Amino acid sequence: MTRHFLTISDLSREELFAVLDRAEQLKALRGTPGHPRPLEGKSIAVVFEKASTRTRLSFEVGIHELGAQPVTLNSRDTQLGRGEPIEDTARMLSRYVHGVVYRTFGHDRLEALARFSTVPVVNGLSDEFHPVQLLADMMTIRQGTGPALDQARVAWIGDGNNMAHSWIVSASVAGFELALACPPGYQPDEQVLADARKRGAHVRVVDRPEEALEGATVVSTDVWASMGQEDEAGERHGAFAGFIVDEAAMARAASDAIFLHCLPAHRGEEVSAAVIDGAQSRVWDEAENRLHTQKALLEWLVV
Ligand code: CP
Ligand code: NVA
Repeated sequence: MTRHFLTISDLSREELFAVLDRAEQLKALRGTPGHPRPLEGKSIAVVFEKASTRTRLSFEVGIHELGAQPVTLNSRDTQLGRGEPIEDTARMLSRYVHGVVYRTFGHDRLEALARFSTVPVVNGLSDEFHPVQLLADMMTIRQGTGPALDQARVAWIGDGNNMAHSWIVSASVAGFELALACPPGYQPDEQVLADARKRGAHVRVVDRPEEALEGATVVSTDVWASMGQEDEAGERHGAFAGFIVDEAAMARAASDAIFLHCLPAHRGEEVSAAVIDGAQSRVWDEAENRLHTQKALLEWLVV
């Protein structure tokens, strides 16, 4: 049966750690003659219905380095953008390429694509989940000098959005502790929380950033208005006052805590310049790790 990667829980704990281990190997081999080209002769479609910088770059470069050809499509230039059914797009893509990376709005669109695709589908971000980002984030935690990934204490400060959901699912697979501080009305989805708790996740949702930050070894946040929520930006700005990750917030976490942000970031909104550009920030390693982890994922999924 074709495997897909729509959320982190599409991997077992063993598979997740194997992908993260392989990402380290591929990082070490990058640019050497020993770097593998397991996808030689294949093609992977990378389809965007929303903007992207990192996802596009890291998948295009990574697919090329694995020996395959990336074919990037923006929905505004395709029949998808003119209403061709997702089911027909899935059937058609499966006749041309050996895998599909898809960034879209509703997660149901990804599920529909996967249902009708005979080649692996990878979630490049949906309104509900951003799992490829979490692979990079977990690799970055493992590279730090703090506790092992399954012993980490992660604080999420801000919106209960696609990134927050992916942290919740990841907590259930990787085993770390997670506390999310979200303003009223912006908490994560109850079903995502319930499903993760059923899988054994240790997740708390609290109202005040201080409650999540106490003793955290990893602090993460994201924009207050995600793609597709541009109209709500003003209203969200008010609701998220007090949820900035600044030096005072970082001081509540463990003294060697690291700061992560999927990027793009808004300095002075969800994070201060002093934090994102400071000594505890790992955001550039995190962005680089998109490349290594996605290569490991594609090697595992597509070969
Ligand atoms: N973090 C992330 O997915 O960035 P892009 O939106 O630039 O792809
Ligand atoms: N939550 C953000 C993540 C961007 C990578 C968004 O969906 O726009």
